[in-house]
Amino acid sequence: MRLNSCGVMTYKEYLQVLKEHSPYDFLDYSDNSIFRRIEKVMRDHELTLEELCEKTRKEKTFVEEVVEAITVNTTELFRDPAVWKYLFEKNLPSLNNNSFINIWHAGCSTGQEVYSLLILFNELGLLDKVRVFATDISHKALEIARKGVYQNQIDRGCIDNFNSVFDIPSGDNTTFLKYFEVDEKHDRIIVKPFLKENIKFIRHDLVKNEVPFYNKIDVIFCRNVLIYFNVKLQNRIVQRFYDGLYNNGMLVLGAHEGLSGFFKTKFDRHGPIYKKSNVFHLRY
Ligand SMILES: C[S@@+](CC[C@H](N)C(=O)[O-])C[C@H]1O[C@@H](n2cnc3c(N)ncnc32)[C@H](O)[C@@H]1O
Repeated sequence: MRLNSCGVMTYKEYLQVLKEHSPYDFLDYSDNSIFRRIEKVMRDHELTLEELCEKTRKEKTFVEEVVEAITVNTTELFRDPAVWKYLFEKNLPSLNNNSFINIWHAGCSTGQEVYSLLILFNELGLLDKVRVFATDISHKALEIARKGVYQNQIDRGCIDNFNSVFDIPSGDNTTFLKYFEVDEKHDRIIVKPFLKENIKFIRHDLVKNEVPFYNKIDVIFCRNVLIYFNVKLQNRIVQRFYDGLYNNGMLVLGAHEGLSGFFKTKFDRHGPIYKKSNVFHLRY
C-alpha cells in the first residue's frame, strides 16, 4: 500500500487501488462528491481507509457494493419539466420523417427519464419508431429501471409534474393513467408494459467502455452525470457522444451542465438542446 508524505493514505490513493483491483476507474470523478461517498462507505462499514483498501483488494462482492455506494442515482419522472415541455413542443416533432429514431440514455439510473421520453413520443404518435438503449454503471438502478415500479412517488407530486408538461389541469389523472398503474395503498406507480417494448437496459461504464451498440444515434440524453466528472473525462465522453450522433443529432444535458471549450463550436445550442453541427470537424 502506498502512503503519502505524512505516512497517511489519501482518498485518491484509494481510488488508484480500486482501479488496479477492479474494472472501475473513478480517478477522474470530481473530488468532493466522491470523497464524501467514500467517507460514508467507511462509516457504514466502520473501516479506516487502509482497511477499506484491504477489503477492496480481497473481496469482489464488496467492490460492487462500493460502486453502488459511490454512484448517485437520484432521478425522477419529468425532472426539470420545462426541458420536457420544450422537447415535446419544439424539438421531437421534427423526428417525424425518420423511419427509426435511435435514442441513448447514458446514465439512465432507475429509468424514470427513459419512460418520460417514451411518453412524449407516444403523445406525438411516434412511439413505434423509437428504439432506446438505456445504460448505467449501477446494477441495482438498472434492475429497478427494468421493473418500472416506483415507490413513494404519488406524495412527491409526480402526477402534477407530469400534468405540467402537457398543460393538463392539476387533479386530472386521465393521461397519467394511460401510462401508469397507480397503487395508492403502497404509494407506488407501475409503468404499463406497452411502454417498455422497445427499450434495452444495458450495463455500461461510460469511463471504460466504448459505445455499446453499432447504430448511429438521433438523440443522446446524458443528464446529471457529467457533473460528477472532471473536465478531462467530460471531454472524452462528449467526444464519444459527438462521434455516435448523426449530423444534426441532439445531445441533452442536465440543467446545470453545459459544453465548454472545443465542443461549444461543434454543437449549436437550441434552448436546452445541443445539436451536432453538420460541418466536418477535426477530433478533440
Ligand atoms: C444523478 S443520476 C442521473 C439520472 C438521470 N439521467 C437524471 O438526470 O435524472 C447519475 C447516474 O449516472 C450513473 N453513472 C455514474 N458513473 C457512471 C459511469 N461511469 N458509467 C455509467 N453510468 C454512470 C449513476 O449510476 C447514476 O445512475
